[in-house]
Amino acid sequence: MRSTTTTSFFGAYIIFMLLVSMTACGESKVKTDPTDAKVEEILSQMTLRQKVGQLNQLKHAKLIANNHKETDINIDSAVINGDVGTFLNVWWMKDKRHYQKLAMEHTGVPLIFALDIIHGFRTTFPVPLGEAASWNLPLIERSARIMAIEGTSSGNMWTFAPMVDISFDARWGRMMEGGGEDPYLGSQIAAARVHGFQGDDLSANNTMLACAKHFAAYGQVEAGRDYNQTTVSERFLREYVLPPFHAAEKAGCRTFMNAFNDYDGVPCSGNKFLIRDILKGEWGFKGAVVSDYNSFEEMVDWRYAKDRKQAALKAIEAGSDIDMMGLVYMDHLQDLVEEGKVDVALIDDAVRRVLKLKFELGLFDDPFKYFTDGLQEKEWRHPEYVEHARKIARESMVLLKNDKQLLPLSKTKYKKIAVIGPIDAKPETHMGTWSAAGPKEDVVRFTEGIRNKLGKAAKVTFEAGCADEHTADTKALNRAIRLAKSSDLVILTLGEGQWFSGENTSLVDISLPEPQVQLAKKIKALNKPTVVVMADGRPICMPWIKENMPTILESWLAGCEAGNALADVLFGDYNPSGKLPVTFPANTGQVPISYLRKATGRPTENGTRYLDASNEPAFPFGYGLSYTNFKYSNLKISTDSLKLGQQLEVSVDLENTGQYDGKEVVQLYISDLYGSTSRPLKELKHFKLIALKKGERKTVHFTIAEEDLKMWNEQMKFVAEPGEFQVQVGTNSDVVITKNFILS
Ligand code: BGC
Repeated sequence: MRSTTTTSFFGAYIIFMLLVSMTACGESKVKTDPTDAKVEEILSQMTLRQKVGQLNQLKHAKLIANNHKETDINIDSAVINGDVGTFLNVWWMKDKRHYQKLAMEHTGVPLIFALDIIHGFRTTFPVPLGEAASWNLPLIERSARIMAIEGTSSGNMWTFAPMVDISFDARWGRMMEGGGEDPYLGSQIAAARVHGFQGDDLSANNTMLACAKHFAAYGQVEAGRDYNQTTVSERFLREYVLPPFHAAEKAGCRTFMNAFNDYDGVPCSGNKFLIRDILKGEWGFKGAVVSDYNSFEEMVDWRYAKDRKQAALKAIEAGSDIDMMGLVYMDHLQDLVEEGKVDVALIDDAVRRVLKLKFELGLFDDPFKYFTDGLQEKEWRHPEYVEHARKIARESMVLLKNDKQLLPLSKTKYKKIAVIGPIDAKPETHMGTWSAAGPKEDVVRFTEGIRNKLGKAAKVTFEAGCADEHTADTKALNRAIRLAKSSDLVILTLGEGQWFSGENTSLVDISLPEPQVQLAKKIKALNKPTVVVMADGRPICMPWIKENMPTILESWLAGCEAGNALADVLFGDYNPSGKLPVTFPANTGQVPISYLRKATGRPTENGTRYLDASNEPAFPFGYGLSYTNFKYSNLKISTDSLKLGQQLEVSVDLENTGQYDGKEVVQLYISDLYGSTSRPLKELKHFKLIALKKGERKTVHFTIAEEDLKMWNEQMKFVAEPGEFQVQVGTNSDVVITKNFILS
């Protein structure tokens, strides 16, 4: 970073003071108005140095360490000199207030404070992949809303969420942070989360900027290895990767984040095709693009830039606006302009976007609006938020097997219950990695949740059975077996620990660790009624468990109310309705795997197959059982000969034929039977979450628009091609009833 001189930004300061005094005088209150004119006025008074400062994002640390150097920065001076426009990870409110005060006194341009608020701020919710399994968009939106309320009460104005990366590869631990494998479901969830964070009015004190990340194809890193290269075609990109990003953009998402990986040979931070052509061009995105952590500088590692200066040049040319922790803009943009290598118009465009965000947040009206003392105490863990955490956690749980109808459990039958397995040993496991201000003390473990539910009716005891998820311990195993023997019900909790999914948690083998398989085998041998509860941030391969254990429930990493939510499901106070948002492979060798596979040649038994295993996943996309049964019948379509531009009405009868009230996610897929490019077997196009009382029957309606039939054709145009289609409606991607129609 070059040496600094104190240059006060008087012009903007005067404007700010004018706004404040008008408000104070009781004249018509100056409402936040993110007009271009105001932005232009401020921009016109900035020096080049000050403009570049707006594009610099720092964190609150004296020593900024990144891959290539350690830079000693005096953060106070950086703020005073206008060398920083936004911050990440300034944790304490007093520090944020301090920096904001300095910024306003010396530059007149407020700062934005960002934080990764991903699956909870103080009240922790299920990890995003878990929430996706609820298919309940209003609930998912509510989680984001609560995160915004709690997060803003601590002075955060920008979250780096939602992550909307589609992935078919559970080796990639960040699958945990997304909406799963499907672009349609992922798009719905992306829009819900954006709306939850940003609300209807960004200038309100309890809404925050959302950030769609990681743009793009981060979920396609080769071999599931985080930060790796990708070999994605433009067609794959447009068909599978981009839809959730586009949905986020259409939902008004104000910021996007670059991905660490490359796309088509160009690191995403310098990828003009992605940012300028698609995001800012085709989609007309008006917000700002932030790098991922030091990803500008990493273009040097990618051998895409010869040095940091060239990295700065490539990033700004590509349309990346804000440099998170790379300092390459700060160090080089000014020189690049002065040397005539970068047109200042590029910098102006980026700064405009940043200033506009500040206006939209209402920071020019009141830079301290997010720093209200006492709000945290009021907002954190409001009882309604905790109740929501319980609700979405139980709706996220997916019943994978209930062969002997052991579930739901009687609340009076079992007097001695053993909770066994490494998962429940540590409360923090249930919180997952991005748990922000959520302390482990808030977490209701499974054991506690069951105790809360049953009170004195049963003795509930815990034993880990292993040293941890990956390490056997004979003594612990023996204790667990002794406990199980003396109990009349076992809840066996298996899966992966808190830090085994999330960023940089790739695995070469996603099998359940052997010590846990051994534990399960010993428990099985006791012949006690046993419920396996899986807890994880990704699909885990567990062929022995699937084959031998009749009762399996997927709980994900369920957040602070994990135990209460689990008890609701186990004891029938909630009938599970979750459906898998991602295919569960039978073994690691099958990944990447998705129901979105192409209709290949040689589809038969002797064709596209493995010699040593079946092609079949353990559980398909959209799968999930209920305590009741749902019968699908009477699928009708309004015509079997549709004209372009017309809509197709679809209806199906759904009947609850079992013994319990319940909810079912009715899924509608379209299969395009031939096209100008090879077609997937089916694509999810709509779904509805339907509640039915025991014995009740409803007709469920869908409308298929031309948009639902579109594909990226041979010329890479998004069109509906005349031809034959099949409507498929059912309980998961594998079990459907069908009707065909012709589009002409
Ligand atoms: C992650 C981002 C995150 C950022 C800031 C990066 O390493 O990839 O998702 O928002 O750090 O914490």
